[in-house]
Amino acid sequence: MPTASAPAPQPGHPDTTGVEPVSTVAVIGFGTMGSGIAQVCAAAGLDVRVVEPSEAVIERDMAGIARQLGKAVDKGRLDADARDGTLARIAPATELEHAFDADLVIEAIPERLDLKLDLFRALDEGVGPHTVLATNTSALSVTEIAAATTRPERVCGLHWFNPAPVLPLVEVVRAERTDDATLARAYAFVRQVGKHPIVCRDTPGFVVNRILIPVLNDVVGLWDAGLASAQDIDDGCRFGLNWPIGPLALCDLIGLDVAVHAAEALHASTHEPRMAPPAAMVRMVKAGKLGRKSGEGFYDYAGS
Ligand SMILES: NC(=O)c1ccc[n+]([C@@H]2O[C@H](COP(=O)([O-])OP(=O)(O)OC[C@H]3O[C@@H](n4cnc5c(N)ncnc54)[C@H](O)[C@@H]3O)[C@@H](O)[C@H]2O)c1
Repeated sequence: MPTASAPAPQPGHPDTTGVEPVSTVAVIGFGTMGSGIAQVCAAAGLDVRVVEPSEAVIERDMAGIARQLGKAVDKGRLDADARDGTLARIAPATELEHAFDADLVIEAIPERLDLKLDLFRALDEGVGPHTVLATNTSALSVTEIAAATTRPERVCGLHWFNPAPVLPLVEVVRAERTDDATLARAYAFVRQVGKHPIVCRDTPGFVVNRILIPVLNDVVGLWDAGLASAQDIDDGCRFGLNWPIGPLALCDLIGLDVAVHAAEALHASTHEPRMAPPAAMVRMVKAGKLGRKSGEGFYDYAGS
């Protein structure tokens, strides 16, 4: 009988009763996602072992986290002790062994299957039998990555959103052989660090990108056909649909190259024409118009 303090799990969500909290998490790959994930976990009180081969990236991303936390202190949203504690809980190193005694390992290295398979093979040899291994892949098969290990039942997807410290959602992906205990531990961990988990199967794009990519493709097609200006299309969605950001501004934020890559991956795996990257976006990428990061996309950022 569920009690007020232990509500029945949502349909399809795991029962986390009795699941041990995670105390040490390893994040493999600093970079855009790894640094955000490490920051979230450390802020939630976990010990974080970061493995990143590049010393320069370690220096850059530790400084980036310190800067972000510093801004929160300046705005009165965080006190200086909490900032210092969060920073002190993040321990970076260049060697993979650094991750081996973690309860949970989250992989956030570049989106290349060969790299991820090599990494999961090495993790499989190094970590203890109960460690949960998670991948932050956006478009690769979690099941295929899990199959590189001798423990596919202990592998799942934990798909975070960028920027991880800001966006609440994490998709918890049950791969073909993920067992109930692993899913429950990963799900409980997402809650533990203050994020909102949704559970999904290992299908291309999971839930959010499967919805988002064809919508963005369609909007770019309409813009290319001259339906309205980028600003008017975005304002239509913001003020008529209450979206916090217009779809074309979102493409610029994601990076047009990243959006094209995501569309290509979804198209290759689903064969649905609506997933194919729109010609206009492919053209813009070829011309170096990548959105905010290149200073030009659907909007001009030269002055910002
Ligand atoms: N950027 C996004 O918006 C976003 C959102 C959700 C998921 N993802 C996924 O997260 C993963 C990481 O993406 P990113 O944008 O953070 O990449 P990134 O290039 O910013 O960072 C990857 C980091 O991994 C390091 N690295 C490379 N090989 C390594 C290895 N063998 N061991 C340890 N570290 C290694 C690199 O030096 C780099 O610092 C990808 O699978 C991507 O699809 C990205």
